[in-house]
Amino acid sequence: MHPLALLGCLVALSHCALTTKVCPRPPEVLFATLNVDKKVYEVGEEVEYTCRPGFMPNSGQRKYTCLPTGKWAFNTLLCLPKRCPPPPPLQNGKMDFEEFQYQSTVTFSCDPGYNLVGSRMSQCMADGKWTGTFPQCQPVTCAPPSLPEFGVISFRRLHPGNVSHFLDTIQFECVPPLALIGNETATCMANGTWSSIPVCKVVNCPTPIGIENGFIEFAVRRTYHYNESVSFGCQPGFVMEGSKHSRCENTGNWSTKPVCRAPCKIPVKKAVVLYNGEKKRVQNDLKDGILHGETVSFFCKNKEKSCAYTVDAACVDGNFTLPACFKERGFFSTLVKKDPSEMKACEDEA
Ligand SMILES: *[C@@H]1O[C@H](CO)[C@@H](O)[C@H](O)[C@H]1NC(C)=O
Ligand SMILES: *[C@@H]1O[C@H](CO)[C@@H](O)[C@H](O)[C@H]1NC(C)=O
Ligand SMILES: *[C@@H]1O[C@H](CO)[C@@H](O)[C@H](O)[C@H]1NC(C)=O
Ligand SMILES: *[C@@H]1O[C@H](CO)[C@@H](O)[C@H](O)[C@H]1NC(C)=O
Ligand SMILES: *[C@@H]1O[C@H](CO)[C@@H](O)[C@H](O)[C@H]1NC(C)=O
Ligand SMILES: *[C@@H]1O[C@H](CO)[C@@H](O)[C@H](O)[C@H]1NC(C)=O
Repeated sequence: MHPLALLGCLVALSHCALTTKVCPRPPEVLFATLNVDKKVYEVGEEVEYTCRPGFMPNSGQRKYTCLPTGKWAFNTLLCLPKRCPPPPPLQNGKMDFEEFQYQSTVTFSCDPGYNLVGSRMSQCMADGKWTGTFPQCQPVTCAPPSLPEFGVISFRRLHPGNVSHFLDTIQFECVPPLALIGNETATCMANGTWSSIPVCKVVNCPTPIGIENGFIEFAVRRTYHYNESVSFGCQPGFVMEGSKHSRCENTGNWSTKPVCRAPCKIPVKKAVVLYNGEKKRVQNDLKDGILHGETVSFFCKNKEKSCAYTVDAACVDGNFTLPACFKERGFFSTLVKKDPSEMKACEDEA
C-alpha cells in the first residue's frame, strides 16, 4: 500500500473502510452464541455459531466467512428447542401441559379419591429429559370403621386385602335378633371416611292381623321380633296372590301380606262351555263356579253363516262378565235348535 494511502486510512477510518473491505458483526441467531464476538471482522475471517444448551441446530450452516464484499453469506441457521418425550399417562389423574420442549413444564393432579405421591411438576431440561421422576396417583384409604356397640355390629370387606381403598365397600351385620337400621353397605369416600355406619336395634312388630277371606297359620297372640315370619292361608275356593309369608321388618311393620281372591259363579242356568279345553255343562260340572284367574270359553252363534265361535271370559276376584254375544237359550229353543257348541266352527270369526 502506498504510504499516503495508509496515512489517509489513519486520518479517516470510514473512508478507509470503503477501500479495504471489512465485515460488521455477523447477524444474531436466536438461541445461539458466536465463537468470536467483535465489532469488525477481516475479509476471510471465519465465525462459528453454537446453539445454546437446550437448543439444537437445524440443517442450516453453522460456519460463515467474511466475504470480500464485506458481507456475510446468507445465514441459514436456526436453533430449535430440544424436545422431551411425552410423559407416560398418569393413571387416575391428569397432566396439564402446553408443549414438551426445553423449559416446558407439566403439572400433575389426581382424580378425586386419589392422592398424588411424588412431585406435582416436572420440567423439560436442556438434555431432553424431564426433571425428577413422575408422580403416581394412589387411592385414598379408609381406616376400619370404629364400631361403637362392639360385639353387636360387625362388618366384612367385600374386597380382599387388609386395607380399604377409595370406592371399596364393606357390609355390616347385626347380631340376631337385633335389626340393622341404616344402610348395610358403606363405601370408602374420597376424603377417607365411610359413607355411613348403621346401628343395631331391638325391633318388635305387633301381633299380626289376619287377612280378608283368609287366616294366619299357627299364630300365637304375641309380639314378634325382627325377622320372625308368619304364614297365611285362604278360605276354600279362594286363590292366594302374593307371598304366603309376611316378615317382621326393621321398620316394625309386617311385610306385605298376601290377598285372597274370590271365586266366581257362572251367571247362567244352562250352557255348554269349554273349560280347560274340554266341553263342560255349567249346570252340572261348574255349578260351584270357577277360581279366580280361571277362564271359560262360551260358544256364540253366527246366524248368517250357521257356525259357532268361542269367546273367553275370566274370573277376576269374584267378578265374571258374560261375553255379549252369548245368548242363554230358553227351554223351547233347546228342543228345536242345535246348541251352538254342536255347530261347526266358524272359519275365522273373532
Ligand atoms: C393383613 O394383616 C395381617 C395381620 O395384621 C398380615 O399378616 C398380612 O400380611 C396382611 N395382609 C396384607 C395383604 O397386607
Ligand atoms: C347405601 O350406600 C351405598 C353406598 O355405599 C349407596 O350406593 C346406596 O344407594 C345406599 N343405599 C340406600 C338404601 O341408601
Ligand atoms: C367427607 O365427605 C362427606 C361427603 O362428601 C362429608 O359428608 C363428610 O363430612 C366428610 N368428612 C370429613 C371428615 O371431611
Ligand atoms: C332372617 O331369617 C332368615 C331365615 O328365616 C335368614 O335366612 C336371614 O339371614 C335372616 N336375616 C337377618 C337379617 O337376620
Ligand atoms: C309402618 O307402619 C306405620 C303405621 O302403619 C306407617 O306410618 C309407616 O309408614 C310404615 N312404614 C313403612 C316403611 O311401611
Ligand atoms: C268387581 O266388581 C265390583 C263391582 O262392580 C267392583 O267394585 C270391583 O272393583 C270389581 N273387582 C275387580 C277385581 O274387577
